[in-house]
Amino acid sequence: MLEKIKKIAVLTSGGDSPGMNAAIRSVVRTCAYHGVDCIGIYRGYQGMIEGDFKLMGPRSVKDIVNKGGTILKSARSKEFMTKEGRQKAYTNFKKADIDALIVIGGDGSFTGAQVFNKEFNVPIIGIPGTIDNDIYGTSHTLGYDTALNTVVEVIDKIRDTASSHNRLFFVEVMGRDAGHIALNAGIGAGAEEILIPEENLGLDRLLDSLKRSKLSGKSSSIVVVAEGDKTGKNVFELKDYVEQNMPEYDVRVSVLGHMQRGGSPSCFDRVLASRLGVKAVESLLEGKTNYMVGLLNDKVTLTPIDQAIKGSTEVDRELLKVSDIMSI
Ligand code: F6P
Repeated sequence: MLEKIKKIAVLTSGGDSPGMNAAIRSVVRTCAYHGVDCIGIYRGYQGMIEGDFKLMGPRSVKDIVNKGGTILKSARSKEFMTKEGRQKAYTNFKKADIDALIVIGGDGSFTGAQVFNKEFNVPIIGIPGTIDNDIYGTSHTLGYDTALNTVVEVIDKIRDTASSHNRLFFVEVMGRDAGHIALNAGIGAGAEEILIPEENLGLDRLLDSLKRSKLSGKSSSIVVVAEGDKTGKNVFELKDYVEQNMPEYDVRVSVLGHMQRGGSPSCFDRVLASRLGVKAVESLLEGKTNYMVGLLNDKVTLTPIDQAIKGSTEVDRELLKVSDIMSI
């Protein structure tokens, strides 16, 4: 027979993303709604090992729906990768009478949760939180929509200078392994070219495209580059390359960096976080474990966490074509 879940713990792990706080709020309040205790774990898995726990109620999550970052803080724990570290975490779980765990984070964080479940049979549910949108089983991860809006807003500003000075700008956006931000924000901001980790569009093609742009009467250009782009050249090397081959261009570089991870979550991310938090708690209460909650076709769904970790999240190739046509 299923043991009744009376206490659920929640943590955030890996890179922070806007909407994580809204998800914590949702988990805490859904627990309260169902009469279940909720424990916030600080600093991700490291806090689990150190017993950095706090009992949370509906009022401990007031005024955070609109806040970026994570009030529970985040960390990458090397110790949790060891059996001894996980054993310490489990001992703390037992001491605090915690029955189940909700992890808000990316695939690395889910892998930790999965191992913990296998070793100690603690029910776990994942909520996808990363700006990169690179998790299988959800069309949107928490923070992705906000990051897109942040990037588009900044590129709009860069465009003012690009067009005033007839310049070419390389704008580097986040995405070590995934081009979702680059591709979507690039199209949204009207970039001439978009370079992503999933596809090597080639340097020749970049030069051809810039030459075509010039010929067609464009006086300024913006090229969006994901940090892990497949040409293997970073934005500064790309700048040098273009300057060597097209000295007529006045080239500048803008690396957007961590400003893309911060800021108040968009309405979309707040609603998504609220929906996913409810589903995560209710799934645990229904006896489910080893799932990730996500959004597919605008419905909240469950995907086996194993698939969420291993499944690939290809960029939509149609977007590459759209980008091509738009930059004619
Ligand atoms: O995983 C999200 C992400 O924003 C990546 O796109 C980026 O490469 C990375 O985090 C940066 O991580 P850190 O803050 O540890 O430098």
